Amino acid sequence: MASLSVPTRFFFFLLLLFFQLLPLFHFSSGKGIPEKDQRFQYHNGTLLHGKTSINLIWYGKFNTNQRAIISDFVSSLCKSTFFKVGQAQPSVSSWWKAIEKYYQMESKKKKKDAIVLQEGKQILDENYSMGRTLSILQILQLAARGEQKDAINVVLTSSDVTVEGFCRSRCGIHGTSESKTAGEHHNKFTYIWVGNPASQCPGVCAWPFHQPVYGPKGTPLVPPNNDVGMDGVVINLASLLAATATNPFADGFFQGPAEAPLEAASACPGVFGKGAYPGYAGKLLVDPKTGASYNAYGINGKKYLLPALFDPSTNSCWTLV
Ligand SMILES: *[C@@H]1O[C@H](CO)[C@@H](O)[C@H](O)[C@H]1NC(C)=O
Ligand SMILES: *[C@@H]1O[C@H](CO)[C@@H](O)[C@H](O)[C@H]1NC(C)=O
Repeated sequence: MASLSVPTRFFFFLLLLFFQLLPLFHFSSGKGIPEKDQRFQYHNGTLLHGKTSINLIWYGKFNTNQRAIISDFVSSLCKSTFFKVGQAQPSVSSWWKAIEKYYQMESKKKKKDAIVLQEGKQILDENYSMGRTLSILQILQLAARGEQKDAINVVLTSSDVTVEGFCRSRCGIHGTSESKTAGEHHNKFTYIWVGNPASQCPGVCAWPFHQPVYGPKGTPLVPPNNDVGMDGVVINLASLLAATATNPFADGFFQGPAEAPLEAASACPGVFGKGAYPGYAGKLLVDPKTGASYNAYGINGKKYLLPALFDPSTNSCWTLV
């Protein structure tokens, strides 16, 4: 299980600096054992391949607009939708296409298809069947409600649900679990959880749409879907989807220790456009009518702000704009 951690991307930035500086100080420890290589790299394991469904498990109260922000984002990632309706550029699907670089580097060793995302099912739990305070184990139980074959089961918790570690040490997590479905021997499914931070910690998990709790304080950006919490969820979900595809079993692409990895998007903390620095998200597109900042077009006229992805072929952060 890997967390999309807090405190803040500014902290991530420091962490990133730390890891980037490590190779410069490539001394060995007192016992003569070389320091572990801390660069962003491929750890020779398996990525997610082939058709993979994204199932959404909604826990708690979300209104129709909030659900549409996420389900349109998921549809925008899926190729079938792209071919049907097309998307203005820069698009959500071109953002997702950038992870194909990871698959090209992997397939130098193995011949396999890249991941192809599909829209899965949606499950609603509007009556808080497990209460309003959830442990990570309960998050896993919720994730297991989705189909367990070739799936990424995404649990989304509403703003009035507290989750173990939420805001204090994480904005979301991703991981894998053994499938309990009878007849399927040895199947694993992947899961993601992201909480709506609107009322609990928008300054931690919805930056840059809210003043950050830590680090340099800039003016918050106007969120593209006019929902600070859910537009923050999109950033964290996008980041965790990229991590799930490229580091599903903790032996794929990441930087740093496997227990606290910096992955495809979290290795580029706080970067959304060119020229980003701590406290500044980078140069973005701005909607002249609403003033909202974004960097990707999705289906149904939606706009999104998506995180930078680490490009393993150039060892730099790549953004859509
Ligand atoms: C991946 O495998 C190659 C040999 O095939 C090895 O040299 C390299 O160190 C491995 N990388 C990691 C991170 O384990
Ligand atoms: C949830 O609660 C509402 C009102 O209390 C009720 O009308 C509805 O049927 C419940 N839904 C489920 C799935 O139990």
